[in-house]
Amino acid sequence: MGLVLCFVFVFIVSVALGNGQLQSNVVDVTSFGALGDGKTDDSKAFLEAWEKICGEKGSQTLQIPIGKTFKLRPILFKGPCKSNSINFRLLGKISAPTKSEWGEKGNGRWIIFKDVKNLIVDGSGIIQGSGPTWWNDVHSNRPTSLAFRSCDNLRLKSITSINSAKKYISINSCTEVTVFNVTLIAPEHSPNTDGINLVGSSQVNLFHSTIATGDDCVAINGGCSGINITNVYCGPGHGLSVGSLGGNKAEKVEHVHVKNCTFNGTQNGARIKTYPGGSGYAKSISFKDIILINTRNPIIIDQHYGCRDHCPPTTSAVEVSDVKFIGFHGSASKGAITLSCSEVKRCNGIVLEDITIIPATKGKTLEVVCNNVDGTVQDTTPTVSCLSKP
Ligand SMILES: *[C@@H]1O[C@H](CO)[C@@H](O)[C@H](O)[C@H]1NC(C)=O
Ligand SMILES: *[C@@H]1O[C@H](CO)[C@@H](O)[C@H](O)[C@H]1NC(C)=O
Ligand SMILES: *[C@@H]1O[C@H](CO)[C@@H](O)[C@H](O)[C@H]1NC(C)=O
Ligand SMILES: *[C@@H]1O[C@H](CO)[C@@H](O)[C@H](O)[C@H]1NC(C)=O
Repeated sequence: MGLVLCFVFVFIVSVALGNGQLQSNVVDVTSFGALGDGKTDDSKAFLEAWEKICGEKGSQTLQIPIGKTFKLRPILFKGPCKSNSINFRLLGKISAPTKSEWGEKGNGRWIIFKDVKNLIVDGSGIIQGSGPTWWNDVHSNRPTSLAFRSCDNLRLKSITSINSAKKYISINSCTEVTVFNVTLIAPEHSPNTDGINLVGSSQVNLFHSTIATGDDCVAINGGCSGINITNVYCGPGHGLSVGSLGGNKAEKVEHVHVKNCTFNGTQNGARIKTYPGGSGYAKSISFKDIILINTRNPIIIDQHYGCRDHCPPTTSAVEVSDVKFIGFHGSASKGAITLSCSEVKRCNGIVLEDITIIPATKGKTLEVVCNNVDGTVQDTTPTVSCLSKP
């Protein structure tokens, strides 16, 4: 008897200690009438299912089942929720309305999560944009596919997003964000299809992901700090950029660490871009262990963004300091290293180390630009003569 009781006790304890997700209450969107036939608008069923789980305590899961395609109009999943955590488990496919079906709704965003704490979006499902119906009209109000606003402790995992009309994932005003194993795909020619766009967010970990789009792989904008990006494959696209900063107000970015990333066939690699006349700063930034494959411009600091050789005179600039480029290896097709800093505020504390960039086409000379910059250089090919030895 004692032994049996003991077994029962052990069983109960092990269930109680089991993975919290096992105890999550699972709500399938089809139980709210979503059809998933790829034609019917399932937005209403999704919203009703969301209302239900958002209003319940505990750990809640909204499941989008495999083998079906759910068409959604512009949709807002809004918090705050009563639940401790919400898992948006995407196993099937979600598809966007075409440009002509879109109408005026949506405010330039398709799927929005707002004010939802402890949100997990995962599953090996697909978010399918209608990009091809939008891309030839670049001035239209093209939507971002997936937008998060004020979602603290956000996790995105294993989803695939294809053919976004504009940006893929925008993360605005969120702290504690993990993005792991996502795949974002669009043709190289698709306009403004930024992969992951961060604004005003901190403590962000992005790793083990593939981003092949027509614009920036990752863009880190004003108000971001504590951003780690590791094992990300970019290409095609425009590379990974801090900025553009200083366009209309003081913008600050600090503590950005990019490590073990690949740029294959991208227009730029590691880039910091600021508008002349702006204010704020970009500091404590490192790019380490970067593989370059036929990257057009692998290393760029550009403080003349948006006007290049025709910038009007100005008295202010976003300050760029403490930026390290360490361990860049591979080939480039145009400029190897471009440090085009401001005559108003020189870049300082710029470090180049262990860099070998060879021309992608034999015999071609790669440009090195070096203006208004202070810092050190060692073991770098091609030679950068404006920086000193450490
Ligand atoms: C990464 O995502 C893919 C596609 O969704 C999935 O098949 C794979 O299991 C995921 N890998 C890990 C380690 O989660
Ligand atoms: C980013 O990496 C640094 C150095 O490895 C670490 O101290 C920091 O905690 C990391 N940040 C996040 C958000 O994980
Ligand atoms: C670096 O990235 C490559 C390709 O993404 C990956 O295969 C490798 O395991 C990563 N190395 C480390 C040390 O994480
Ligand atoms: C780089 O991109 C090209 C063109 O898409 C592709 O054929 C090649 O396999 C890629 N190289 C690596 C190492 O991923």
